[in-house]
Amino acid sequence: MPDATYQFPDGFLWGTATAAHQVEGGNTNNNWYAWENTPGKIFDNQKSSLACDWWGGRWKEDLGNAAKDGQNAHRFSVEWSRIQPAPDRWDESALDFYRDILKGMWELGLTPVVTLHHFSDPLWIYEIGGWENEKTPEYFEQFVRKVVDALKSEVKIWVTLNEPNGLVVNSYIDGCFPPGKNDFRAAFTALTHLIRGHGLAYQAIHEIQPDAMAGYALYYRGFFPKKSWFPPDHWVTGMLNRNVNDLFANAIRDGQVKFIIFKTMVKEAIGTQDFVGLQYYSSDEVSFNLLKPGELFASREYPKNAPVSPTGFIADVPQGMAQALKWAHQFRLPIYVTENGVEDAEDKMRPAYLLRHLREVWLAANFNWQVKGYFHWSQVDNFEWERGWSQRFGLWELDPKTQKRTRRRSADLYAAICKENGISSETVRWLAPEVFSEMFPG
Ligand code: BGC
Repeated sequence: MPDATYQFPDGFLWGTATAAHQVEGGNTNNNWYAWENTPGKIFDNQKSSLACDWWGGRWKEDLGNAAKDGQNAHRFSVEWSRIQPAPDRWDESALDFYRDILKGMWELGLTPVVTLHHFSDPLWIYEIGGWENEKTPEYFEQFVRKVVDALKSEVKIWVTLNEPNGLVVNSYIDGCFPPGKNDFRAAFTALTHLIRGHGLAYQAIHEIQPDAMAGYALYYRGFFPKKSWFPPDHWVTGMLNRNVNDLFANAIRDGQVKFIIFKTMVKEAIGTQDFVGLQYYSSDEVSFNLLKPGELFASREYPKNAPVSPTGFIADVPQGMAQALKWAHQFRLPIYVTENGVEDAEDKMRPAYLLRHLREVWLAANFNWQVKGYFHWSQVDNFEWERGWSQRFGLWELDPKTQKRTRRRSADLYAAICKENGISSETVRWLAPEVFSEMFPG
């Protein structure tokens, strides 16, 4: 018998999350293929190539491992460019492939959560200007109709867009995603079209499948004023919160899109979410800096004592997860943590990161907030966008050349948590002793 357990509610969904372009391999008809083939865009000019070879059937191995390890759900995405390779062409065999995965998941006892757009666009959409084109929301809606109609008997929970706010920043402000722009007006245009695309998709899903649940997955970043006594730091923190965290949600509340100095109205978006999909990785301390107008006058740094991941990408700041959950609770809707994780090839930091973040999820669930599930990013190492293979987020390690999978300590830890529907002192003592006294102070 363990001395103590952080117990989660009955029926809690425990899973991992993946995305088509990152795990399937062989996606040669989307904007990311074009990006990977443009020298200088991806770390070391690496390519997704076979990725985790899910298209070749290895989803069976990865999802089989997930199920054996006590997970009862999985979030994955369908690839638009496979299903609609050209504006006037649908590939039914691609839909059959996804139907097979879904059937396989139900057989394994994994409830599916399906994302309809996870960063990649078909080349033909890219060529007409991607999300800057005002027709793209309607094209997306047509695609969503096709997919939902084909797969509705296997799916109840749909995520329309993955991190539209992150996508806009990466594609149109930082420029590390295709089309690699640095243009606030283009960002605003794309954002408006993504919001409209989401609204149209939500309505289409409900028309075809009235009992479905639909929402989008938000990239939530924790922001804390660096000097709590200094009003300009509070002001700039508020500015970041409004433009990064609140923007999409506000548009869904009242249709108003407000981004820096730009404003518009998207009526189709009002009231279009049945749950909050929350993705949280890290947080920053923020100070006001007049010399950084391009970054909304903000200097950002990791909190001083927070452990930082091997490539410096993520700081372990569980208070940000608490803040994110509190933010999500304001909508009084079910909350799914649709992503959370850390890159850590040697798996030294992940066990503690996982436990600290899950403790916040546990606390929120025990406040009786509607926290319904947690999806760790990710089941297995996969292609990390512009950072190529330089970052390893998997519970399982992958050698992309041989396709060999190797279990990390975190896979054992997460398995024990999923199986117990809780975090027991015994599990932590055995699998993450480095964080025992923090989780169970004596
Ligand atoms: C994205 C994933 C990505 C992960 C780690 C999230 O923002 O949705 O696709 O792999 O972060 O970088």
